[in-house]
Amino acid sequence: MATKSFVSLIALAAGVEAGAIKQRATSTQPDWFQTSPNNYAGTTATGAAPFLAATNPAPFGEATYVPNAPLETSEPISGANGRNIFHLMGDLSPYFSPSEGFGVKEYPLPKGANITHMHMLQRHGSRYPSSSEGLDTWGTGIQKAIANGAVFKGELEFLNDWSYQLGKEILVPIGRQELFNSGILNYYNYGHLYDNSSKIVVRTTLQSRMLESAENFLAGFFGLDWSKNANILATIDSATTGESACANEASSMFANIAEPISTWQKTYLKDRTEKLRRLTGNYNWTVTDTYHAQSLCPYETISLGYSEFCQLFNYEEWEGFAYLMDLEFAGLSGFMSPTGRAQGIAWVEEFLARVEGHYVDVPAKLTGANMTLDTNPVTFPLDQSLYLEFTHDANIVSVLTAFGLTQFDDFLPATHRPKNQQFSASKLVPFAGRLNIEIITAPHQVSTKRSSKAGSKSIDYVSGTGETKYVHFIQNQRTIPLHSSFSVCEYREDGWCELSTFLKAQKHSLADAQYPYACSGNWTVKGWGSVRDGVPA
Ligand SMILES: *[C@@H]1O[C@H](CO)[C@@H](O)[C@H](O)[C@H]1NC(C)=O
Ligand SMILES: *[C@@H]1O[C@H](CO)[C@@H](O)[C@H](O)[C@H]1NC(C)=O
Ligand SMILES: *[C@@H]1O[C@H](CO)[C@@H](O)[C@H](O)[C@H]1NC(C)=O
Ligand SMILES: *[C@@H]1O[C@H](CO)[C@@H](O)[C@H](O)[C@H]1NC(C)=O
Ligand SMILES: *[C@@H]1O[C@H](CO)[C@@H](O)[C@H](O)[C@H]1NC(C)=O
Repeated sequence: MATKSFVSLIALAAGVEAGAIKQRATSTQPDWFQTSPNNYAGTTATGAAPFLAATNPAPFGEATYVPNAPLETSEPISGANGRNIFHLMGDLSPYFSPSEGFGVKEYPLPKGANITHMHMLQRHGSRYPSSSEGLDTWGTGIQKAIANGAVFKGELEFLNDWSYQLGKEILVPIGRQELFNSGILNYYNYGHLYDNSSKIVVRTTLQSRMLESAENFLAGFFGLDWSKNANILATIDSATTGESACANEASSMFANIAEPISTWQKTYLKDRTEKLRRLTGNYNWTVTDTYHAQSLCPYETISLGYSEFCQLFNYEEWEGFAYLMDLEFAGLSGFMSPTGRAQGIAWVEEFLARVEGHYVDVPAKLTGANMTLDTNPVTFPLDQSLYLEFTHDANIVSVLTAFGLTQFDDFLPATHRPKNQQFSASKLVPFAGRLNIEIITAPHQVSTKRSSKAGSKSIDYVSGTGETKYVHFIQNQRTIPLHSSFSVCEYREDGWCELSTFLKAQKHSLADAQYPYACSGNWTVKGWGSVRDGVPA
């Protein structure tokens, strides 16, 4: 989805050299600028590692809306009535936890039960546009038109003095903050699971924004000295080489979504395009221009703090934008993608191997996993309680698909938004979106009906039953109810599933992904909607 940014690597190398020269030049002086080791830090006693996920008796009652900060997002949007358009930007939404959840409420951990493991899959934070999006080219085109005498009027008047000022691919400041905040949040929730007698292996990629996301997260989780606690295993990102393990992925992904994207763009932006056209003089303003203007709202806001493009669109048009992202992700790596399950199956198999306590034992040709890494105890340790992993939006969607979370397999038509839509790119993969999977051991079966009163933790057990393990999926701090996707998982108010039942259900995931056929088979992309189960039709 992105091309390599060599520039940042060169800049990094240049920075290192400059630093080395400066140090040599000042070597006759004491080292004024050294802060470590530090013998004068004063008292440094640390307290117990928290475990809020286990000790939190919330929810307590009405949630209070907390405005976004530091971005300016309070501009008036026609028809919004207090609703936040920054929750309607698909994968370009700054991080948020969806207030409506995924179908169940959250409950406190019953007294006596333990969270024993947490597996996290975390998306990088807010970034500049990808090289492939064409926004820079659009900006140049607008400036050229102005130089040639185009004059924009009315709501578009600001364009006469506007220029494109965004970078490419790397994290913007709020992206750093999102990951730092996620590290802090995850520390409060799961810090107790870190065993300080050993360093954990954390996985990310060498792509600039991926590596920096992992580093910012770890700085939040452990503090700036995080390298004492974690080793980063950073592999080459296929997004920077264009070489995916799944050969058909790149060729099919964009072919699959081109038609629905174009149809929906022309539909939801028709009226707005006609209105804006009247303000553009001799510049031939098309639906594509309207779409680029709309995309610049999230990108300028996260990059510069505020954007004049946002108010060009009403709330319904932002709902249309969100739906465009839903079409895109369903078709790129969700249930409407022919390689949706295949793209995510390697991580699913890695997760299952860790939960079952063995190395990945499925041949690489069935998953695309890197077996050199996945069978080595140094690079694939099995004894961690915390697995922290960093990835991209499309990968998280593909993992949910490969698990078989059919709650999110709705058919998304190109011509209109369906009712009761479950699959939402904004809710699932905003910037810094994350999946936390908890493994829970309870002394007894936990009642499927949960007591929601704080302080009544002890009445949630089924009497006469023994120790029972559960799995709990949490996407962006909201529970994904496993019974909605797996008929073998009994209906539970808390959305958990018994671990043994869940593992049995997962026995099918590998075959269901059809990795060899999906990734290397000779099939063609058929019309939109022909793919409904994340494998070729
Ligand atoms: C680990 O934590 C314990 C208890 O909190 C503390 O006594 C010990 O010094 C810590 N060890 C390291 C290596 O930080
Ligand atoms: C596995 O990962 C290692 C380390 O990144 C790399 O050198 C090797 O080429 C990879 N192997 C495959 C089959 O991708
Ligand atoms: C404006 O652009 C549209 C779409 O590219 C094209 O069909 C149309 O002919 C253009 N009109 C003019 C006046 O150039
Ligand atoms: C939970 O952890 C505590 C402390 O390690 C332990 O005593 C207890 O037996 C555990 N409970 C279960 C159900 O595993
Ligand atoms: C793939 O299938 C098409 C149509 O059935 C056929 O024309 C083509 O030769 C096949 N390609 C390969 C590499 O088998």
